[in-house]
Amino acid sequence: MENTTQETSLPPRLGGEKQGKILIVGFGPGDADQMTFRARAAIAEAEVVIGYTTYIKLVRDLLDGKKVIKKGMTEEIDRCVEAWETAKQGKVVALISSGDGGVYGMAGPTYEVLFQHGWTPDSAITVEVVPGTTALNSCASLVGAPLTHDFCSISLSDLLTPWPTIRKRIDAVGSADFVIGLYNPKSGRRTGQIVEAQRILLQHRAATTPVAIVKSAYRRRQQIQITTLDHMADCEIGMLTTVLIGNSSSYVQEGLLITPRGYGNKYNELTGDAKVGEQAGRSLSMGLEGWHGCMRRWLDDGNGSSWEKITAYFDAPLGEVLTAVAGATDEEPAGDYHAVRVPSEQLEPLLAILPSWGRLRAVVRAPAGAVSELLLNGDQLSRKGDWLNCVSDAFHLHIHWSEVDHAFLARRGEKSMGIHLLNGAGALVFRLLLVRDGEAFNAKARTAFDQYWQGLNTHD
Ligand SMILES: C[S@@+](CC[C@H](N)C(=O)[O-])C[C@H]1O[C@@H](n2cnc3c(N)ncnc32)[C@H](O)[C@@H]1O
Repeated sequence: MENTTQETSLPPRLGGEKQGKILIVGFGPGDADQMTFRARAAIAEAEVVIGYTTYIKLVRDLLDGKKVIKKGMTEEIDRCVEAWETAKQGKVVALISSGDGGVYGMAGPTYEVLFQHGWTPDSAITVEVVPGTTALNSCASLVGAPLTHDFCSISLSDLLTPWPTIRKRIDAVGSADFVIGLYNPKSGRRTGQIVEAQRILLQHRAATTPVAIVKSAYRRRQQIQITTLDHMADCEIGMLTTVLIGNSSSYVQEGLLITPRGYGNKYNELTGDAKVGEQAGRSLSMGLEGWHGCMRRWLDDGNGSSWEKITAYFDAPLGEVLTAVAGATDEEPAGDYHAVRVPSEQLEPLLAILPSWGRLRAVVRAPAGAVSELLLNGDQLSRKGDWLNCVSDAFHLHIHWSEVDHAFLARRGEKSMGIHLLNGAGALVFRLLLVRDGEAFNAKARTAFDQYWQGLNTHD
């Protein structure tokens, strides 16, 4: 798609005729004091106001002398069509939406309907989205400071979104440790979604993760419950509830849900001075530039064990750990861990070299946790299309070779050495480890392995 830069000028008005206008007005959580000046002015400017019956009630004080069109809950598209038809008659029409019209609101469907009718931003009918305070913000403001770090929102409504899509999103943000705001968590008919969301999130987060449940924020029946993830689904939750789920650092103090901004990572709480190794105004020592150094120091301090345990400790893909190790120097070693990257273009020639490494242990890990280890010789591996196969009387091994993006030769002192073949995201597809002959590695295999390593270093 082309990049475009737009000047914000008003569209041309033709022949002095009165032109229609659609204002998509977010009026905030529902309390008059929480409405913006612009939202109030937009409703005042409108000749026709269209909205869901309950929303119309919430702004009734602003509707004197206006034509009001009330619609039911499932009549969103009707509201948009009505707005378009009304604006075509040269009228100014306000489509009102709770919170912000652009957040699970009327803005998207309105533009979709307008485009279907051939509207473009240059058309005579103007469109303005008037922002409002969305439920995520208004609910957060009532329970402390839950959104002070990275957060996202997910709607649990499967009326228009397939459940597999919703499930995948819950799983992804759960594992990425976002604070989560759940919109549309439950209704009279949809009672199982919040239970499923809880089940998925408990796979990633502690049962004690704090949760705030805010019902009817800034409205007459406002209700706040502070609970934990394992009790979330047992709480009173309805159509007008937003559920805020903390991240792994969030905590409850004095009944308030707080997500730390991260100052504690850098500054001493008592003195306000930067902690050892940190500098005010600079990225953390665990920032983009520094965290590979942190991993190396940690390994050099003798903390390491298996590659899997290291990746679990740093919660990083194996590719990141191996990149950090490959960056080790004499001045900044990574203990007895060493690695060198095998670039993508070297993968095909590598297959021809494997037979010289003697007996190998192939390690394949299934995502759900099963680990298979097979003994084979490099010349038993053969390519067929996208697959790398090893077929013997004892086993069949099929590796999806086109998944392999790059590799690292790696060793831990004299304990273990081999090659890790990784996908584009740095996750392990499989690894081949040299096998010992009693106490030591086979001398011929070891020499071939070392020569290949030196060749890669020279290549660099
Ligand atoms: C269709 S969405 C509309 C969201 C709205 N456009 C916004 O920006 O807040 C409806 C959901 O918003 C949330 N919500 C809206 N108003 C709320 C309020 N006053 N208190 C708590 N949650 C609210 C609830 O999760 C509800 O199920």
